Amino acid sequence: MVVAVLFSTVPVSISIPFIVFHGIGDKCSGGVNNFTQLLSILSGSPGFCLEIGNGEPDSWFMPLTRQASVACEKVKQMKELSQGYNIVAQSQGNLVARGLIEFCDDAPPVINYVSLGGPHAGIAKIPKCSAGPFCDIAEALMKLEIYNDLVQNIIAPSGYVKIPGEMTKYLKHSKYLPKLNNERPEERNSTFRDRFTSLHNLVLVMFQNDTTLVPKETSWFGYYTDEGFDSLLSTQQTKLYIEDWIGLKALDAVGKVKFVSVPGDHLIIAYEDVVKYVVPYLMQTSL
Ligand SMILES: *[C@@H]1O[C@H](CO)[C@@H](O)[C@H](O)[C@H]1NC(C)=O
Ligand SMILES: *[C@@H]1O[C@H](CO)[C@@H](O)[C@H](O)[C@H]1NC(C)=O
Ligand SMILES: *[C@@H]1O[C@H](CO)[C@@H](O)[C@H](O)[C@H]1NC(C)=O
Repeated sequence: MVVAVLFSTVPVSISIPFIVFHGIGDKCSGGVNNFTQLLSILSGSPGFCLEIGNGEPDSWFMPLTRQASVACEKVKQMKELSQGYNIVAQSQGNLVARGLIEFCDDAPPVINYVSLGGPHAGIAKIPKCSAGPFCDIAEALMKLEIYNDLVQNIIAPSGYVKIPGEMTKYLKHSKYLPKLNNERPEERNSTFRDRFTSLHNLVLVMFQNDTTLVPKETSWFGYYTDEGFDSLLSTQQTKLYIEDWIGLKALDAVGKVKFVSVPGDHLIIAYEDVVKYVVPYLMQTSL
């Protein structure tokens, strides 16, 4: 009897670990490791910034299909994650995260997923390369036709550039986002949808003054119409949502999607907003 009471009062609190994916032009070591540590301290859960390749250069030059498959292999090798884990991703890292969730076979389950400024529905303009030796190369290549096979095979962000008014080219030649979003009618894969729908919580953080993502609403899966830049569709007005290509509507219907809007430019998130919108999803202790 005493033993039973003891057992029932000592909480079996095993924290769920989390991983972090950084954005383009960023890295874990000397970069996002710091943010990961902060989240770990605030949540009390073990966290790992997962590097794909060599960090900054590969964030530009490793195609996203490859980045997602590297992430998949890494996650499966981490014993810490084998019972399930949470994800926090920044910017382009969200497309790696979703590739991991949707495409990775025989992987441990992802419980909560917090997306910070993710270009989920694509971007209509290529992000500016801030500085560094490969910016010239990247920018020169991106001046070529974005849906050219060479560019698609070399420049990571070309995988989610979606120029309104150029849907035919996009659907035919883009190598990443159409697959990730189940956009091609003849290639829709219900496994991707099932996996995404199994998330417990999906937190989509949009930055009100985001000048990097065009349009900023892409962080919530909102986007321009297929015809051009004239009008913007809210999440609920997009076909991805209405026809539920990836399970976003299904998740939303059961209250598992949190649409969060915070002040600030791209990824400039206030400490209080981290505490309010990120940390709680890393604190769950049992499945
Ligand atoms: C790491 O974060 C701390 C605050 O948490 C900050 O003071 C420090 O400058 C950061 N270091 C780097 C390299 O960004
Ligand atoms: C859908 O994706 C899964 C997981 O990657 C794969 O095993 C399956 O063959 C795909 N189905 C089709 C019809 O392509
Ligand atoms: C956001 O942009 C608006 C208009 O450009 C500006 O008035 C406002 O101060 C900005 N807010 C933040 C938090 O940067």
